[in-house]
Amino acid sequence: MTDLSQTALLHELEPVVESNLNRHLSMAKEWFPHEYVPWSEGRTFDGPLGGEAWTEADSTLPDVARTALIVNLLTEDNLPSYHHQIATLFGRDGAWGTWVHRWTAEEGRHGTAIRDYLTVTRAVDPVELERARMVHMSHGYSNAHDHHMLNSLAYVSFQELATRISHRNTGKATGDAVCDALLARIAADENLHMVFYRNLLAAAFEVAPSQTMRAVAEVITNFEMPGVGIEGFARKSVQIALAGIYDLRQHRDEVVAPVLRQWDVFNVTGLDAEGQAAQERIGQHLADLETAAARFEEKRDARRARLARVG
Ligand SMILES: [Fe+2]
Ligand SMILES: [Fe+2]
Repeated sequence: MTDLSQTALLHELEPVVESNLNRHLSMAKEWFPHEYVPWSEGRTFDGPLGGEAWTEADSTLPDVARTALIVNLLTEDNLPSYHHQIATLFGRDGAWGTWVHRWTAEEGRHGTAIRDYLTVTRAVDPVELERARMVHMSHGYSNAHDHHMLNSLAYVSFQELATRISHRNTGKATGDAVCDALLARIAADENLHMVFYRNLLAAAFEVAPSQTMRAVAEVITNFEMPGVGIEGFARKSVQIALAGIYDLRQHRDEVVAPVLRQWDVFNVTGLDAEGQAAQERIGQHLADLETAAARFEEKRDARRARLARVG
């Protein structure tokens, strides 16, 4: 079976983009970031306006919730890079172009809302946050799937859901009802984004089953969160995993497995030899993730028990 070119894929999937764009627009609810931020809690900062500098005592949020909020916000902040990536791949014409711009506009709201919340409530050090944003955005973002339409569609199907779970659980970890409501609102957007991409890839399975299967296998076996380039990401993601905000168990059970199930990957037929090999790799990867998740949970339980003993 010869692979479909990027141009052929764009053309084949255009009607599916159009119908899913319409579905998205009919389901997406308008919302306003300013309504989710407790402005009256704000105080002027030091600097040109001569207010009070941020101090550690200003923040009432648990450490790990702050870490997760920073990771989530920096991830949202890199939107120009993501936009560049999908605009290059999907183009700016027709339904594809409409989606690219609409999606970008929705994602832009997320960074605005989280930053306003963090600044007004003094939840994190604003100087450190701004410096981290500069470093992170100066590196830009690109992933291994940059130039391949199907790999990119597969990647964002998982990534939007991963982001949804991460926002949702970060909200809970803050113990702050205001922040929880804001992140739940953002998580609802991420879910609609996931559905859009997942439906598109489902259509790709019909058009080019083996090629799509290979793309999915490549993506899940090399999956990295979009925030991977953030300074200290490895350390931060361990903290986040230990707190149960985003860990291997959630990655397997709440992100990878449900999306694969929606595509019914193990019952896709009409595969060539490479497609079948990819299907087997996907099965193997799920089994490997299970082993790794169980091992992680065991270690985490042991660590919690140890910490409880120490008191
Ligand atoms: Fe987002
Ligand atoms: Fe999103």
